[in-house]
Amino acid sequence: MEFSITVLPGDGVGPEITAEGAKALKAIGERFHHEFKFRNGSIGAAAFERLGEALPQETIDLCKNSDAVLFGAVGDPKYEQPGLKSRPELGYGIIRLRKTFGLFANLRPVRLFPSLVNSTNFKPEVVEGVDIIIVRELTGGLYFAEPKQLFRSPEGRRSVDTLAYSEDEIRRIVRVGFELAGSRKKKLTSVDKFQILRSSDLWREIAMEVASEYPDVEPEYILVDNCAMRLIQHPTDFDVIVTENLFGDILSDEASMLAGSLGMMPSASLSGIPKVGGKLFGLYEPIHGSAPRRAGLNMANPIATILSAAMMLRYSFGLIEEAKRIEDTVNQVLEEGYRTYDIMSEGKSKLGTREMGDLIASRILQGSSKT
Ligand code: IPM
Ligand code: MG
Repeated sequence: MEFSITVLPGDGVGPEITAEGAKALKAIGERFHHEFKFRNGSIGAAAFERLGEALPQETIDLCKNSDAVLFGAVGDPKYEQPGLKSRPELGYGIIRLRKTFGLFANLRPVRLFPSLVNSTNFKPEVVEGVDIIIVRELTGGLYFAEPKQLFRSPEGRRSVDTLAYSEDEIRRIVRVGFELAGSRKKKLTSVDKFQILRSSDLWREIAMEVASEYPDVEPEYILVDNCAMRLIQHPTDFDVIVTENLFGDILSDEASMLAGSLGMMPSASLSGIPKVGGKLFGLYEPIHGSAPRRAGLNMANPIATILSAAMMLRYSFGLIEEAKRIEDTVNQVLEEGYRTYDIMSEGKSKLGTREMGDLIASRILQGSSKT
């Protein structure tokens, strides 16, 4: 089969890690006889400097004409001081990109590979078996709703962000949570700040309504502060978590520590209910960001991007066996003791970004009959 993929390397370590994601996909293409056509587009500070815009129209058009997007990272500390006259748009274009394609469903799996059980900051017995999916609402809430501004008032400078959700926005993301829960352990945790935030009151009301459509899934409704605590107290209590945009942003960075490193956390952003073997357009990205201090040093862990590529195979191309091949291969190289700096521990072999990507690509191909 033939698929077209837009690669948006972006800033910082983005170009290095997306190169390794594409390498893994090419190896899959070779092994399973698929043709992946790659085209690169600009985004982020890199695009702003070259074309005057963080998300140029030509990048949007490229994405429109492809089956999926592999995204690296955006962000450059140069633009992160207050008061600059000229700077890239909010979120360096990625936020608008998500909105443009209606990618409201962000899946963030938190899976601890067994060989990393001693590489986290937790006692092995606490994290052993962690396998959670955070379903983050991605196109609403505080990131988007108006008013959103900085202004001067007679009392001095003020700022406002708005947390607004419609019932339809809540219903569709909660459904994604229930659908996923139905295909897993049949347990769903809906996270909100009920009774403090009006948007959370609505969230819980809708979540309870949706729950009645899924009698085989056991729902649980908890507060975000309690979730933050329980995630590190008893992480294996969780299976699927569904929550609004900013809560999901924060909880997923926290949860990444359960997987050993932010560098192990892939994500998929979709415009509908994910179906294993389905063919939804999607954007796939590691959740770790541009890590400017590591940029150009061949240090960054490419595994989050490579696992994001596996999610692309599963949800956008319907290639389940191929997706599994990537995940099994990542598991295999970790079992063999290969590590990047962020998951390094005594007695293991440390690899750079490229070397880890090369190793995974060659292991994907291993044993394949090249006909
Ligand atoms: C993420 C990131 C982004 C977000 C930034 C880069 C805008 O933190 O994907 O988690 O806040 O959504
Ligand atoms: Mg984040």
